[in-house]
Amino acid sequence: MAQRVRGVVSRAKGEPVEIEEVLVPDPGPGEVVVEVDACGVCHTDLHYREGAINDEFPFLLGHEAAGHVEQVGPGVENVAPGDYVVLAWRAPCGKCRSCLRGRPWYCFDSANATQPMTLADGTRLSAALGIGAFIEKTLVAAGQAVKVDPAARPEAAGLIGCGVMAGFGSAVNTGGVSRGDTVAVFGCGGVGDAAIAAATLAGARRVIAVDLDDRKLEWAKRFGATDVVNASRADPVEAIKALTGGFGADLVIEAVGRPETYRQAFEARDLAGTLVQVGVPDPSMTIELPMIELFGRGGALKSSWYGDCLPTRDFPMLIDLYLKGRLDLDGFVSEVIGLGDVEEAFGRMQRGEVLRSVVVI
Ligand SMILES: NC(=O)c1ccc[n+]([C@@H]2O[C@H](COP(=O)([O-])OP(=O)(O)OC[C@H]3O[C@@H](n4cnc5c(N)ncnc54)[C@H](O)[C@@H]3O)[C@@H](O)[C@H]2O)c1
Ligand SMILES: [Zn+2]
Ligand SMILES: [Zn+2]
Repeated sequence: MAQRVRGVVSRAKGEPVEIEEVLVPDPGPGEVVVEVDACGVCHTDLHYREGAINDEFPFLLGHEAAGHVEQVGPGVENVAPGDYVVLAWRAPCGKCRSCLRGRPWYCFDSANATQPMTLADGTRLSAALGIGAFIEKTLVAAGQAVKVDPAARPEAAGLIGCGVMAGFGSAVNTGGVSRGDTVAVFGCGGVGDAAIAAATLAGARRVIAVDLDDRKLEWAKRFGATDVVNASRADPVEAIKALTGGFGADLVIEAVGRPETYRQAFEARDLAGTLVQVGVPDPSMTIELPMIELFGRGGALKSSWYGDCLPTRDFPMLIDLYLKGRLDLDGFVSEVIGLGDVEEAFGRMQRGEVLRSVVVI
């Protein structure tokens, strides 16, 4: 029988989110119900509420979560009731043209639960990134539930389900950062700081953090930034060049999602350098670049979907780094809040007061 639980729902574009009663069906074939322990507030949740992802309202928000498997449906083999899991928004199908070419991190037919969660009146909810985890219990595809070491506290562990994984992977998987590289990161929120931490772990020689907010730049230093640039006071392209012998950085990561930062990131690269865009733009944004520069600077312009991660490979690895004290996941947790506090947390995110607010349920 469907369970009645409380969840955070965005009913209309720009309207404050509210707690609603949600019906969670029993798991069908290949599905699991997960009791959510903790879920981080990511900028993408705010993008949903602002109608910037699509207009399939109402949304059940939340997608950076850790919890325990409560029930499994028929045919589920990868997890069992009681397992401690982090939820992933990519569960490779193994059958699409990308999976079959041995590139499951691009899977074009990633699995989600097939049954919908609904409001009490039967209205179908769109679960953010196919998860929907600002809720007491959620229904996902079994492949979205990735077992990790229960020694990692859920407030920290859940963050690898989106922002930290995306940022970390943008540097390591997409950007291929390696020992001795110079790296610049535009935008020092949860995503950018995870890219900074990853570049540092990989042995980058110099890791330059760029933001408009001095507080964010101070936090970026904790994750390994060797130099910081406040782009509201200095030209970040000139500053990055000055810090890299006049050349620009080998790898530049754009973790804001705006045309002006993309252009700066493009110009702040050394010749043959790599630009990785992990920030998500608004659909109305466009960019114009001189074609001769696209050619003349060479190198690679890449996008990073979810840090090109493979959750079953990368989540346990990040948790392992955390438990060994090498990846400071606790440093991303600015505050712990309740289900009823998500709207206020959006405001604090917009004012730059937090890296991550984490809902504990
Ligand atoms: N590609 C993916 O798979 C993926 C996954 C998760 C999040 N994201 C996206 O990554 C981006 C960052 O997410 P977040 O949670 O870290 O957001 P956030 O709001 O916490 O951080 C964004 C940072 O960018 C800074 N910033 C804004 N304008 C700037 C400018 N002109 N120059 C320099 N810095 C500037 C802000 O001060 C802030 O510190 C968002 O667009 C989010 O949607 C992408
Ligand atoms: Zn696939
Ligand atoms: Zn996210």
